[in-house]
Amino acid sequence: MKLEITPTTAGDYPDFERWFRDKESLKWFPAPFCSLEYNAAFHAYWIRRADNLVRTIRVDSRPVGYVGAEWFDPFHKTAAIQLLVGDKKIRNSGVGFKAASMLIDELFRTHGLRMVYTWSVACNAASLRIIKKIGFKKAGVFRSAHLIDDRYEDRILYDLLREEFLKS
Ligand SMILES: CC(C)(COP(=O)(O)OP(=O)(O)OC[C@H]1O[C@@H](n2cnc3c(N)ncnc32)[C@H](O)[C@@H]1OP(=O)(O)O)[C@@H](O)C(=O)NCCC(=O)NCCS
Repeated sequence: MKLEITPTTAGDYPDFERWFRDKESLKWFPAPFCSLEYNAAFHAYWIRRADNLVRTIRVDSRPVGYVGAEWFDPFHKTAAIQLLVGDKKIRNSGVGFKAASMLIDELFRTHGLRMVYTWSVACNAASLRIIKKIGFKKAGVFRSAHLIDDRYEDRILYDLLREEFLKS
């Protein structure tokens, strides 16, 4: 299995549309992703925004999801990591972990970032597992911050420093 992350282009948008229409996958995301119907113009704008490095995850050339560095800030040298493996058939085979690790490596080595951060809903076991395996440190909790399945859950915040990632 050959795993790559490639800059997202307009040719990938039909795959993004399929993934972003899946409410079960999107319920872990912030609004408007979890709350609004798919909107092609909004998503194209979001993918192309200068402060959002989006990479399409490909397995043997086939798009299966995306990993992104949102709020990419070259002044403070920080960014927020997002991840979606849209193809559910290949989940739990290490794709999410490897793709996120590849993007973080690119952010620290190529783009010179010093710190990346992310958050997970407290009951998102797969996301928490990847965050732990990558080596993120817990930075805090936003209590009762995420509406999911008709209840409010905590969001757990994490950060990772360049030196911590590169020494592991
Ligand atoms: C979270 C997500 C990206 C994981 O992608 P993936 O390719 O399946 O991830 P991986 O296979 O690399 O790792 C998943 C890990 O979680 C574990 N896991 C999955 N479900 C689990 C559960 N219910 N309880 C405990 N562990 C679980 C897997 O065993 C695996 O750990 P391991 O490698 O130690 O065995 C994918 O499920 C997804 O896109 N979900 C919807 C969007 C989302 O939640 N994004 C993240 C928050 S923004």
